[in-house]
Amino acid sequence: MSDATPMRLTVFASGGGTNFQRILDAIDRGRLDAEPVGLITNRADAGARERAERHGVPADVVDPDAFADPTDFGRALLDLLRDRETSFVALAGFMRKIPANVVDAYRGAMVNIHPALLPAFGGKGMYGMNVHRAVIDYGVHWSGATVHLVDEAYDHGPIVLQEPVPVDPDDTPESLAERVLAVEHRIYPKALQLFAENRIRRDGRRVRILSPS
Ligand code: GAR
Repeated sequence: MSDATPMRLTVFASGGGTNFQRILDAIDRGRLDAEPVGLITNRADAGARERAERHGVPADVVDPDAFADPTDFGRALLDLLRDRETSFVALAGFMRKIPANVVDAYRGAMVNIHPALLPAFGGKGMYGMNVHRAVIDYGVHWSGATVHLVDEAYDHGPIVLQEPVPVDPDDTPESLAERVLAVEHRIYPKALQLFAENRIRRDGRRVRILSPS
């Protein structure tokens, strides 16, 4: 890591939070130079909250349905992010759309992990097991995992890292999800570390990864 200010990372999650856990593990093992400053979930029963508690990471619930519109939801998120001096946001299984005011405030400093090879099998409704079901139903031979920057459209921003996973003819959505998740766990901390090392450069949609200095 350079002598730049360490990445102050907030993770957004909706579910069990295994990706969140891997991020925390990578930080603990010195493989990710980041300080985990917060977890935000949209549901009080998200399993990720227990992981945050075990790790001493402050966790908050912000329910989008409690706000009149996405802008108000975004303001509540921004208040929390600013309270914790968040410099970078990682979406890890967050199943709600990020409001435009948050996208704008963290443009270039917010990534998502998607359980398929984008731009295939992304977009509205393509989350969690729906993705793996669609992949199998379509009959593609390869799926995978994608880390991408977040913009205003679902699963659309510039791609940072991708890794393919073969689809077995006997796969069920669950068996495929398990193999894709193992890849997610490996590439997400790696992608975040590239940002922490300031090795990501963007040229329109294209992302270039600089060699380590
Ligand atoms: C992961 O597979 C992630 O890629 C997916 O939800 C799962 C969350 O698992 N995200 C999406 O589908 C977003 N479009 P986790 O809670 O165990 O990290």
